[in-house]
Formats: sequence, structure tokens, C-alpha cells
Amino acid sequence: MTYPTVAVIGGTGEEGSGLALRWAAAGYPILIGSRSRERAVAAAETLRALLPDGRSARIGGDSNAEAAAAADLVVLSVPYSSQAGIIEQIRAGCEGKPVVSVVVPLKPPRVSHVWRPAGGSAAEEAQALLGNGARVAAAFQNISATHLKDLDHVVDCDILVTGDDKEAKQAALDLAEAAGMRGIDAGPLANSGVSEGLTAVLIGINIRNKVKGSGIRITGV
Ligand SMILES: NC(=O)c1ccc[n+]([C@@H]2O[C@H](COP(=O)([O-])OP(=O)(O)OC[C@H]3O[C@@H](n4cnc5c(N)ncnc54)[C@H](OP(=O)(O)O)[C@@H]3O)[C@@H](O)[C@H]2O)c1
Repeated sequence: MTYPTVAVIGGTGEEGSGLALRWAAAGYPILIGSRSRERAVAAAETLRALLPDGRSARIGGDSNAEAAAAADLVVLSVPYSSQAGIIEQIRAGCEGKPVVSVVVPLKPPRVSHVWRPAGGSAAEEAQALLGNGARVAAAFQNISATHLKDLDHVVDCDILVTGDDKEAKQAALDLAEAAGMRGIDAGPLANSGVSEGLTAVLIGINIRNKVKGSGIRITGV
């Protein structure tokens, strides 16, 4: 199987780097994106060192714009507050590609309260900012970064995948499987506000139960 090269924009952060490690271990060539090329290269080196003994993978690093331009598939994993500015830098590189948004709009200080941005959801706003050339799907919003870098850890959470484009949604479902989880088609991108909002609910559950990685399961499927 030939795996598409995945650019993880904001892949120096906990969520993006944890997912990138799992995808790399599954065979996807990875490009870590950062505002700083040096930080991206260093993060890529750190991830390569975390691969199980004897396992090699193509993990490189570059600026966000260069990483997006060089990839087949772009994953957006930056804070919501910086999303619009980052998209400005990667828009050209995302043209004609599937873009998977991991972004959760949270409004500090009440990050355990659901907050929906003016555009309905971060993913819908990303689609509007990227234009019709890129096709956005939303996924991984409910996956805590906590255990992602422990490749033996079974993440007890399903992944709701939303999107209006079949290929982008399939790309996200494939990434879910590669990361060792079950992806579920949860309908159009207009539904992404619910999966993004669920993260605020899970943060509250984590706080009240003094845990770090509560998750969701869809039953009966
Ligand atoms: N952490 C979780 O458990 C989790 C779970 C589900 C979803 N998410 C969502 O996934 C996304 C990434 O989460 P994260 O925890 O990895 O976030 P993060 O560590 O705060 O940020 C990820 C990366 O984004 C870049 N960044 C940070 N602040 C920025 C700014 N003001 N302007 C531009 N770029 C900035 C940084 O990369 P450079 O400095 O290298 O450019 C950073 O390493 C967020 O939207 C988050 O809500 C997180």
C-alpha cells in the first residue's frame, strides 16, 4: 500500500505530535509543520527516536507553508485562536487536497463549557477560509493527547468523522484506523460543531473525575 504524505500543521504540539507518531509507525510519511522550521526539524527528530526499536519511518520537519505544499494530505492541529492566521499561510499549499481538522474551539477560562464560534465550528470556518479548492473533514477532536505517544496504549475512544467530501472523510477514517482507533462517519461538516463541543464536555468530565483522558464510544454499530 502507498501511503499519502501527511503534513501535520502545529505538529510540534502534544496532539499533533502524538498522532504523527502513530501514523508514522503505521507507515505514513510525515512532515511536521511549525512556525519555525528549526522547531519542526527538532520535533521530527524527537519523534523518530520514539519509534519502536528497528522501526524506521519518514518523519521530516518544515515551516507550516512548506510542509502543507509538499504533502498529499494536511492535518490542522493548532489552537483555534491561531487558526485563521495559520490558514492564511498554508492556503496555497492546501489547494486540491484533503484537510483534516483536529482543532477544538475553546473559550478560556471556561474551557469545560461548550462554545461555538460564529462560523458554526472551527472546521466550517477552516473550510470557508481555505475556499472550495481544499476539502475539509473534522476528526480526532475527542482524542486526548495524554497517551498518544505510548504506542501500546489502547485509546478507549471512538473518532467522529464529519465532512462534506467523500475522499476527505475517507482519508480521516483511514488515519483513525492507522492510529489504532475506530472512526465513525458522523455526517456532514455541519455536524462538526457537536464533536468539537463534546471536547469541552469531556474536559469537564476529566476535571470532575480527576482523570486525563475520558472519551466516547458509539454503541450499536
Ligand atoms: N491536547 C489535546 O489533548 C487535544 C485533544 C483534542 C483536540 N485538541 C485540539 O488540537 C489542536 C492542537 O492541540 P495541542 O494541544 O497540540 O495544541 P498546542 O500545543 O497549544 O499547539 C499546537 C501547535 O500550534 C502552534 N501554536 C501554538 N500557539 C500558536 C499561536 N498563538 N499561533 C500560531 N501557532 C501556534 C505551536 O507550534 P509552533 O510553535 O511550532 O508553530 C504548537 O506546538 C487544538 O486545536 C486543540 O484544541 C487537543
